[in-house]
Amino acid sequence: MTENTVVISEIKDGIGVLRLNRPEAYNALNSALMDQLSSLLIEYDQNNEIGCIVITGNQKAFSAGADIKEMEELTYKKAYRQNFITRNWEQIACTRKPIIAAVNGVALGGGCELALMSDMVFAGESAKFGQPEVNLGISPGAGGTQRLAHFIGKAKAMDMVLTGRMIKAQEALSCGIVSRVFPDDELLDETKMIAKNIAKKSHTACMMIKEMVNVAFETSLSHGVMFERRLFHSMFGTDDQQEGMDAFIQKRIPHFDND
Ligand code: CAA
Repeated sequence: MTENTVVISEIKDGIGVLRLNRPEAYNALNSALMDQLSSLLIEYDQNNEIGCIVITGNQKAFSAGADIKEMEELTYKKAYRQNFITRNWEQIACTRKPIIAAVNGVALGGGCELALMSDMVFAGESAKFGQPEVNLGISPGAGGTQRLAHFIGKAKAMDMVLTGRMIKAQEALSCGIVSRVFPDDELLDETKMIAKNIAKKSHTACMMIKEMVNVAFETSLSHGVMFERRLFHSMFGTDDQQEGMDAFIQKRIPHFDND
């Protein structure tokens, strides 16, 4: 385990776990944390040992969002010149390997947006999600208005971003922010187990599948299906297709060469 100041990294059994570690501030996302998180994600993406990434926090907080004390001093000019958000936060959305956000406690503002940039969100049963930026006189700034509108529809997205209210894990499950809810103290173990299972599959296939699903949010249905078909055809040029199908026919577990 590598002990960093604000993000703890652990690589084991094919998965990379990144734990946000500013417990004194509900894991508020300051520049140092976002710099560490984004550079670790770049490292993880290039590390063939890792087939799936988990981002998590602690029992009280996944993250309470962008660091308000840091943002308070921001001017328009500074925000623009520093390329605030785009500079390092977008790495979560650009990472090619699957990312699961395991959320216990609060995921607010940028914390909720960070979860929305992940590929799957699993929650502890007492987790809470919200976009309270409106209460600070600002808007969500890490894609919240856009991703929520895409993922949960206009009515619910408007309800969340205009009222700033928090929704509980079950409501987040029913509207599609979250795909699974676990008892709080089982969340991380369950998430790791699922991540390990994904990591045993063909990394190439998982990366391509992730790319295909993400294209659905960027293009028309017919172009999306065409994109899927092209990548699907290309998979017949991989060793993994041969191994996966041979293993099925020979009734054995496939061993994908993920190097
Ligand atoms: N930024 C900086 N510090 C934060 C923080 C944040 N987002 N959230 C909590 N903290 C700090 C508090 O300032 C406090 O620090 P001190 O002990 O030094 O005073 C400490 O964490 C504990 O917080 P509270 O005393 O407020 O604890 P609580 O249990 O009463 O409430 C909370 C917890 C509900 C998370 C509350 O702190 C809260 O509402 N936080 C702000 C949430 C928020 O507005 N997030 C949106 C940020 S803007 C954004 O994210 C923009 C974007 O889209 C990128």
